[in-house]
Amino acid sequence: MRPKISPSLLSANFAHLGRDVEMLNSSEADWIHLDIMDGVFVPNISFGFPVLKYVAELARKPLDVHLMIVNPEKFIGEVKKLGAHVMNVHYEVCPHLHRVVQEIREAGMEPAVTINPATPVCLLRDIIQDVYMVLVMSVNPGFGGQAFIGHSVEKVKELRRLIDETGSQALIEVDGGVDLDTGARLVAAGADILVSGSTIFKAPDPTEMIRQMKQL
Ligand code: DX5
Ligand code: ZN
Repeated sequence: MRPKISPSLLSANFAHLGRDVEMLNSSEADWIHLDIMDGVFVPNISFGFPVLKYVAELARKPLDVHLMIVNPEKFIGEVKKLGAHVMNVHYEVCPHLHRVVQEIREAGMEPAVTINPATPVCLLRDIIQDVYMVLVMSVNPGFGGQAFIGHSVEKVKELRRLIDETGSQALIEVDGGVDLDTGARLVAAGADILVSGSTIFKAPDPTEMIRQMKQL
């Protein structure tokens, strides 16, 4: 099964966002990954809803919104207004994850739970039936262009086993340090969707890089 590719706009040129969104529209990208940061949960701030409103108007691919913020449930309405397909919240900031997942679904979006590199897959056992997708972070969230954490491949295999064992339909997405080499290893381990930022946007021909990732 060929992976879906969800290019991360975090590595785009923010002075030419419209141009970069149009590039993704006309590429083979399946989704567009939007990273929202708060400077609290992660040590960085990216873009917020006033900027994403215009991105969403221009985008012709489903939006995969990754919230790296505390209290993500406060923004379900804002994410919905963007017309998002998937809303990813971090396991580490949701003591009432089951409730948040239901609220995202009730708002008409697909709920996804994201785990940091140090958060074990086994903690997902009691939520895996309720989520559309699990996003495995293969770097510590907050920045693009970081080195891939090799152990993530094992985590994807373990997650695939958990999904098969429980009969869950959850998809597996991986985010951080994904290039053609790490991407191939992740797909072999069972990943369905690859997020990639710097590898795509720093490539001489980003459209061609997306095309090559789709072949993995
Ligand atoms: C990091 C973000 C990623 C980031 C990935 O916190 O969640 O989506 O854009 O960037 P690369 O692909 O450069 O590691
Ligand atoms: Zn992300």
